[in-house]
Order: sequence, then C-alpha cells, then structure tokens
Amino acid sequence: SIFELPDFDGHEQVVFASDSQSGLKAIIAIHNTHRGPAMGGCRMWAYPDSTVAATDALRLARGMTYKNAMAGLPIGGGKAVIIGDARTSKSPELFRALGRAIDQLGGRYITAEDVGTSPADMTFVREQTRYVAGLSGDLGGTGDPSPATALGVFVGIEAAVRHRLGVDSVNGLTVAVQGLGHVGYDLARRLHEAGARLIVADIDRANGERAAAEFGASVVSPDEIVDAQADVFAPCALGAVLNRQTLPRLKCSVVAGAANNQLATDDIGEMLRDAGVLYAPDYVINAGGIIKVCAEYLQEPVDSVEDRVRAISGTLDEVFQMAERDGIATSRAADTLARTRFA
Ligand code: NAI
Repeated sequence: SIFELPDFDGHEQVVFASDSQSGLKAIIAIHNTHRGPAMGGCRMWAYPDSTVAATDALRLARGMTYKNAMAGLPIGGGKAVIIGDARTSKSPELFRALGRAIDQLGGRYITAEDVGTSPADMTFVREQTRYVAGLSGDLGGTGDPSPATALGVFVGIEAAVRHRLGVDSVNGLTVAVQGLGHVGYDLARRLHEAGARLIVADIDRANGERAAAEFGASVVSPDEIVDAQADVFAPCALGAVLNRQTLPRLKCSVVAGAANNQLATDDIGEMLRDAGVLYAPDYVINAGGIIKVCAEYLQEPVDSVEDRVRAISGTLDEVFQMAERDGIATSRAADTLARTRFA
C-alpha cells in the first residue's frame, strides 16, 4: 500500500482518480496543509506502473511543502500525476475529468502546469474547478512564471557570492550556465547586464549561439560545462546534475541554479560542503515561479511579486548562516528551516 512506500512521509491524503471515458488515471498527493491549501503542478508522464507514479507523486508533493514553506507562502504542498504519454494521450476530456477530481477535494489541492502539461491543458481543468493556477493570460493568468524564477536565481547567486566570496555583485565574476531555456536564458541576460562573464552550454546549439551573439558568452559542449573554470555553476537544465561523477570535476566555489532536484542523493549536499562548494538549495533559490503563480491565484497585486521574489536572497542568507553555525550542509539546513515553518 501507499503507507509502505519509502517516499510516504505522513502525507495527509492520497487520491486515486480515474475516468474510463477519457482514460484518466491520476494520483493526487496532498502532503501537508498546515500553512494553507496544498499547491503544486500536475505532471503527465508515461509511468511504467502505478507504484512508480505514486512514488513520484509522494516525493513531488513533499517537495512542494518544503518549497512553499521556505518561500513564505500561505500554501501547503501537493502534486498530481497523470499516468500517460503527454505526446499521445492528451485530450480536453482527460483534463476536464482531472478538474472534476480536483474539485471534489473542495480546495484542499490547487493544481497548475508542470512537466508534460501546459497552460492550455489547464484551461480544460478550469472548466470544472476554480482550484487551478498558472493559467494563460486570457483566463486571468499572468503567463509564464520563468522570468520570476530567473530573477530569484539571480538574486540568489548574488547572496551566495556575497557569502562565499565576500563580493557585492557578480560584476567581473564568471558564471557557467547549464541550459539556456526559459529560465537559463533570462538568467544569462541578467548576469550579463550585471557585468558577469558567461560560459554556457545547451544541447540545442542555437541557444548557445544566440547567447554568444547577445551576451558575448563562451559556448562549450554540454559534456564540458561541469568542468568550466568559473566562480559559479548555475544548473538550469536537468535534475541530478550533482552526483559522484560530476562532483570531482567542479571548479566553482558556488553552485546556484534553477534546476529541480540537483542533488542526485542527499549525501551529495555534505560532499559539496566538504569540497568547499557553497550550494544554494534548489527549492529555495528556484521559488520565484511558484511565488508568482501563488500571487496570481490569490489575486494579489502583481507589483508585490518582485519584492517577494527578491526576498529569496534573505532566505538564502538564513540558510547559509545556519549551515555555517551548525556545521551542516546547506541542503540540510534548508530542510530543517522548512520543517519549522510547516510543522
Ligand atoms: P526549459 O525546458 O525551457 O529549458 C531547459 C533547457 O536546458 C533547454 O534549452 C534544453 O535544451 C537544455 N538542456 C537539456 N538538457 C541539457 C544538457 N544535458 N546540457 C545542457 N542543456 C540542456 O526549462 P526551464 O523552464 O528553463 O527550466 C529549467 C530548470 O529549472 C528545470 O529543471 C525546471 O524544472 C526548473 N524550474 C523551472 C521553473 C520555471 O519557472 N520555468 C521553476 C522552478 C524550477
């Protein structure tokens, strides 16, 4: 049962939802609602079986509790997963059925887009429930959250270099950016404008070439970016980029980027610390997007968002100071601080 899965962590509620007409098979996991209704996106993935899907839902929902608490948001953590191939199995009916399942939870869970789903899919969810955020502009949404995420990562990098290198800005520093997508490209622009030198990599060559032309970035291959001679490494592509193979190759003194789940395993946090690398915990530094989506959902003024995203810098200061004081990894300090905020 769910209760025996290793990723079960006292989750408040786990709902299996199905709809035979649309083929919906979904799992909604609500981890913790002490701070408010659980918010987290809906992932669509071709999971091999329902145990793998449930494990992912449990893990992602718990992650949202930590992330939302550290961002100081009045929401808890939850996540939905749809079992299915996002390229072939989507239909308006599928997302309407999901919307009905979410509506039955009466507001305990609020969904949004995630890997495999889009604002357009959320339009169909919205037809059945108001418990959905991250909508496109024509439905009262505020559009792409990536620029807010990039701003949070930028101020987070500033906080990290202040703490680790004692400098006030990234001016003159070298930053290696892995992945120039929605977040990475905007981050690169901000870093360039602030006077940083850039080393970049993307599996899509065109992105690198654009960054070279626009920001004077040096482009290296995706295989080489981990080895880049830089002050800061900013992972903005995939998860698990910090692992036993990549760790010895890092030349930087700060790792601070947008990618989710950067640590392949928890002990990598300690290994980074032992190696003298300051790690900005991913879910703290990349919260800009959820801060924006949450404000949109709560219909808070748009101009309050920027200040709150910039406050990520202060939260990271707290994490860095606690880690130093207690002689622990920053990843562990963040988890501890988060737990006090949602307990
Ligand atoms: P994206 O899909 O727009 O960009 C990812 C970029 O990385 C693409 O340009 C892709 O070609 C490149 N890439 C993929 N594998 C690579 C590799 N091995 N080496 C170099 N480049 C590679 O995604 P987005 O939205 O920019 O997100 C980036 C990361 O940040 C993801 O891990 C995402 O989960 C995380 N994140 C994004 C948020 C947002 O607001 N978009 C919010 C919080 C986290």
